[in-house]
Amino acid sequence: MSKLAINETVIWAQLHQHQRATRHLHMRDLFADNPQRFAQMHEQLDGFLLDYSKNRITEETLNLLVELAETAELPQWMRRMCCGEKINDSESRAVLHTALRLPASATLEVDGENIVPQVQHELNRALDFAENIRSGSLKTSRGEIFTDVVNLGIGGSDLGPQTLTQALRPYHAPQLNVHFVANVDGTDLAQVLEKINLVTTLFIISSKSFTTPETLLNAHAVRERLCAQLPEEAVAQHFAAVSNNLDAAAAFGIPRERVFTVFEWVGGRYSATSAIGLPLMCAIGAERFRELLAGAHAMDEHFFHAPLRHNMPVLLALIGIWYNTFYRAHSHAVIPYHHGLRRFPAHIQQLDMESNGKQTSRHGDYLDFDTGPIIWGEAGVNCQHAFFQLLHQGSRLIPSDFIVVVNGDYDNDVHQKTLVANALAQTRALMAGKSEAQVYRELADLPAMRRDELMPQKHFPGNQPSNTIMLERLTPYYLGMLLALYEHKVFVQGVIWGINSFDQWGVEYGKVLARDIAPKLDSTDSTAYDASTDGLIRFFRQHHEHA
Ligand code: F6P
Repeated sequence: MSKLAINETVIWAQLHQHQRATRHLHMRDLFADNPQRFAQMHEQLDGFLLDYSKNRITEETLNLLVELAETAELPQWMRRMCCGEKINDSESRAVLHTALRLPASATLEVDGENIVPQVQHELNRALDFAENIRSGSLKTSRGEIFTDVVNLGIGGSDLGPQTLTQALRPYHAPQLNVHFVANVDGTDLAQVLEKINLVTTLFIISSKSFTTPETLLNAHAVRERLCAQLPEEAVAQHFAAVSNNLDAAAAFGIPRERVFTVFEWVGGRYSATSAIGLPLMCAIGAERFRELLAGAHAMDEHFFHAPLRHNMPVLLALIGIWYNTFYRAHSHAVIPYHHGLRRFPAHIQQLDMESNGKQTSRHGDYLDFDTGPIIWGEAGVNCQHAFFQLLHQGSRLIPSDFIVVVNGDYDNDVHQKTLVANALAQTRALMAGKSEAQVYRELADLPAMRRDELMPQKHFPGNQPSNTIMLERLTPYYLGMLLALYEHKVFVQGVIWGINSFDQWGVEYGKVLARDIAPKLDSTDSTAYDASTDGLIRFFRQHHEHA
C-alpha cells in the first residue's frame, strides 16, 4: 500500500477540527487563565531565547502539531540530512550545510569517507586568504594594500553574505571596506564603482556555477574597466572566485589558488557559512568567522538532538504550519529590531520562498494545500510607521517573528531601551489588542452617537500572533544561531509538506526566456510572444537611446 499524503492522514483532519474548535480563543484570555504560559512556552539556549507564547495555540495544539511532525517522519528526515543521505532527490545530492559548521575534531562519513578534513581544508584556505588581504600581505598588482572588497554574486551568492556582513558591521576591519553588487541593472555596479578605487579593490566573483548571467555580466564589465587601467595579467591579483567551475574561473584569468570551492552538497541559499562567506571573512577575520560557525553549530546540535516539543526550529516551523495551513494565513512577517539586520528579511525571503515555494511533492504529485508562505518584513521601528497599521487593525491574520537584541553595539543605551520597548509594546499590543470596553471608557465624555461611530475605529482586536526571538547581543556567535534557526525551520516545513526544499526549478524558466528576449530588443525583427510582450518590446525599441 502506498504511503498516505500528509493531508490524507488522521492527524491532518484532527488539526483542522482542532482549529475549528479553538479559533474563538483569544490570547488575552489564554494568558489571563494561565500565569505559567510564558514559562511553558519559551525555550532558551545560553543568551538566545525563543518566546512562542503569544500564539493562538494551547498545549493540545502543540501536541497535535508534534504528532503531525512524527507522522511526516521528521526525526527520520533529520537523521537522513545529518548523515549525508541524498535527500535533494531531484538533483541527487546530499544536503550538508551543517557539515560546514562541524568542529575540526568531528567525523562525518559520507559514502565511506570522512568529509570533515576536506571541509576544514577549504575553510582554512578561504580564511587564510581573507586574513592575508586584511593584513596587507597580499597586495595589488602595483604592490599596494587592498582598500576595498567587492562581491559580485546574486541570490544565495549575495543575500546571505551581504546580510551577515551588514549585521556584523561593528566587527569589521576599519582599513577594508566590503561592498556587494548583485543586480544586472548597471546602476548597482556604477554606484559601487563611484565609491571605490578600482586599482586597490579585490573583486570576488561569487558564483557556485560560474554561469549565472547577471554575475558574469558584472564580472566582465569590471574586468574590462580594470584592464583599461592595468595590464591584463593584473586580473590574477585583483580577482578571486568562489565557485565549483574551476575551468570557467581559470578561463576568466583567476589562478587556482584564488578559487575557493563550495561543496556540491551546499545549496546556494544555504551557503553563507561556506566559502561564499569570503567577503564576510575579509570584513571580520578568521576568529570572528569561526565564532559564527560555532553559533550555527550550536543551533545545529540543538536541532538534531532536542526533543521535538522543545526544539526551536521545529517549534517555529510547526507554529508556522498551524497558521499557513490550518488558518490559511498567506504571509509571514520577519521584523528585526536591529538596524544591522535590516537585510535579514530579504535573506529569509530567498531561503524560505525559493525552498518551499512549490506546489508539487518530492514525488511529483500536485499538493492540494497551501505550502510556503509569502515572507516579508522590514526593520523595526521604521516599519511601525509603515505597515503596522495593517497588522493592528487590518482584516488579515499575519503571524510574525520579532527579532530583538538586548544589548546594542554602540554606546547609546537610551536608543537601545527605546528600541526594545517598542518591540515589546508591539508584540503585546498585537496579542492583547484594546478591548471595546476600554475604548468605550476613553470616549465616555463624547455624545453617544459620536462614541458609537468612533468606538469600532479605535478598537484593536488583538489576537495577532507573534514569536519573539531575543539575543543577548548581535555577536557572530548569536548571528550564527539565528541563521541556522531559520535554515532548519524551512527544512522542517518542507518535510511536513512533502516538498524537496533544496532544488529551485521554477527560477530557471525566467532565465531561459530572458536569453531569448534580449537580442529582440536590439533587432527590428517582428516578435510573436503575446500582444503585451510584443507591445512592450516595440515601445522599448521606439524609446531606447543607444549608448
Ligand atoms: O536564484 C537562483 C539561483 O540558482 C540561486 O539558487 C543561487 O543562489 C543563485 O541563483 C546564484 O547561483 P550561482 O552561485 O551559481 O551564481
